[in-house]
Amino acid sequence: MSDKVKMTAMNYEANRRKASNPIKIMDLSLRDGHQSLFATRGRTEDMIPVAEMMDEVGFWAIETWGGATFDTMHRFLNEDPWERLRTLKRYIKKTPFSMLLRAQNLVGYRNYADDLAYAFVDRAAENGMDVFRTFDALNDYRNFETVVKQIKKSGKHFQGCICYTLTEPRLGGEVYNLDYFVNKAKDLESMGADSVCVKDMAGLMAPYDAYPLIKALKKAVKIPIHLHSHFTSGMSPMTHLKAIEAGVDIIDTCMTPYAYRTSHAAVEPLVMALLGTNRDTGFDIKKLAEINEIFEKQILPKYKHLLDTSKVSIIDINVLLHQTPGGMLSNLVNQLREMDALDKIDEVYKELPRVRKELGQIPLVTPTSQIVGVQTVNNVLHDTPDERYKMITGQVKDLCYGLYGKTAVPIDKELQKKALKGYPRGEEPITSRPAEVLEPELEKAKEEIGDLAVDIDDQILYAIFPVTGKKFLEWKYGKTEAPDSVKPISLEQVAARDALVKKALAGELIEKPDAPEKTEAVRSFNVYVDEEFFQVDVDPVGGAPVIATPQVAVAPAAPVAPKAAAPVAKAAPAAASAPAPAASADGTVLAAPMPGMVVRFEKKVGDTVKQGDTILILEAMKMENALVAPCDGTINAVNFAVGDSVVKGATLAVIG
Ligand code: CO
Repeated sequence: MSDKVKMTAMNYEANRRKASNPIKIMDLSLRDGHQSLFATRGRTEDMIPVAEMMDEVGFWAIETWGGATFDTMHRFLNEDPWERLRTLKRYIKKTPFSMLLRAQNLVGYRNYADDLAYAFVDRAAENGMDVFRTFDALNDYRNFETVVKQIKKSGKHFQGCICYTLTEPRLGGEVYNLDYFVNKAKDLESMGADSVCVKDMAGLMAPYDAYPLIKALKKAVKIPIHLHSHFTSGMSPMTHLKAIEAGVDIIDTCMTPYAYRTSHAAVEPLVMALLGTNRDTGFDIKKLAEINEIFEKQILPKYKHLLDTSKVSIIDINVLLHQTPGGMLSNLVNQLREMDALDKIDEVYKELPRVRKELGQIPLVTPTSQIVGVQTVNNVLHDTPDERYKMITGQVKDLCYGLYGKTAVPIDKELQKKALKGYPRGEEPITSRPAEVLEPELEKAKEEIGDLAVDIDDQILYAIFPVTGKKFLEWKYGKTEAPDSVKPISLEQVAARDALVKKALAGELIEKPDAPEKTEAVRSFNVYVDEEFFQVDVDPVGGAPVIATPQVAVAPAAPVAPKAAAPVAKAAPAAASAPAPAASADGTVLAAPMPGMVVRFEKKVGDTVKQGDTILILEAMKMENALVAPCDGTINAVNFAVGDSVVKGATLAVIG
């Protein structure tokens, strides 16, 4: 860094010397960038306009896949995740691709069986993946064993991650200290890692912790050290600089439009900051500016509405206060808002470190951040002064059983015992590699999905995401029509929308003609867009409405009180969409404690149940919650089917 830089803005290229040890850069715009800022909604068609130019920059790799992309693409964008890989590979020919692999969790939220893990990595490699950035939420590298075997077999780059987490405001303390990280790096090197990534997903790493940490890691292992540090807290540009001074080999950045907030620091200021030094990137800043212009003009207008601009500040001070990932905090806020309990946020902040400690002081990253977050919210909402952990999620039970791996410190014994009471796999936790206890699952998935899956890639998609994967395959092969909500929007539509908003703000919208009176034929529909719920009244014009046969259901749905519901016409006939009330279904109601989607039923009508038996699994905020029988009895009614979305308070089952 002592090199003297003598140049002007005009002639820097001419005087630019090649750096003796250039810092390598991985670009994250096409994965972590839009995952962090735009809810992972980036579409392949919006990556193509810049793909060839990005290939020319000289990035060490471009992150294009993995993380949440696989899930959101098939669920919300009606895109085949495998196809993105093949398509981008046609445009980006020189620069290696990188993906974020959640080790045995692959690109999902639970540990999958070994056969599925082998198949997934094999197909990812075949479809064009080069660098497999692999992490385990617990830093339990036994969860790497299977995928690493296949990464190596496929001849690809295995990058092992250490999830960076803290229990104190700065590096140190009893668990996550310098020794912890050095030992983890050595473990990775001895497993055959081609590089080590320190994954600072929450942006917790302070610059003066980065310096000694990178120094120590460089001394401990021979393989390159890669730093992934989110901007969220505002420290990462400083952290990058200190890490570069300490000799880090590779840094992650985003193109400016995908940078900052909960994403990563931008590449352009780093290029200029290092210009002419021994760590100069060698990148052409003008080329980067050209790419930015395309992003700004042609692509970002379609996404800007997804950017969370509820706050002016681009820094999340809460991260510095609570040492938790920004995404986790926003999930908590959303979850509380959906349950009309936003006023409980301070209690959640207080409960969170307690739950985390009791669950073994685990790092907070997908999926453990959700596990700790959702359980914390459950505790705050459902616990009573004399009983904690009244509603334990399925994932917490799995964690207590050892299904995610070994926690940094042992789980609280009392909690573990409570969580495992009646746990179907057994009440004694396991100590083996978690996937050892999992039955092979790919063949079973193939049988279930049958001909709807045309090739192995379809089958893997279904195996990882059975409910939404099946829906997607039905869209893909024209069995059902994809809803408008998953279709792309054009720049013209964006312009029309913006013009309308502008008019509305200026008070220039022409008044609509008076709405006609609602007739008897009006029907109410529940409409779900992503996580939002609306109630819409539809009044057919011309001709009598065709009333579909109601779903077989014998219990009344609990009265639903949507927040912004339109008034329902009082003369509405028994709406076909609502189950008909039946007096025979007397009994205790199992109501949805939160909005969500029914993933599966463990019990059916006529089954005898004991209090505490799991009746169904409800997915909410990507977490599976086991809903249990509130009393002994027989199931008189089951409303809803697998895949149905339900609102808070909906009657899911009736026990008599
Ligand atoms: Co990240």
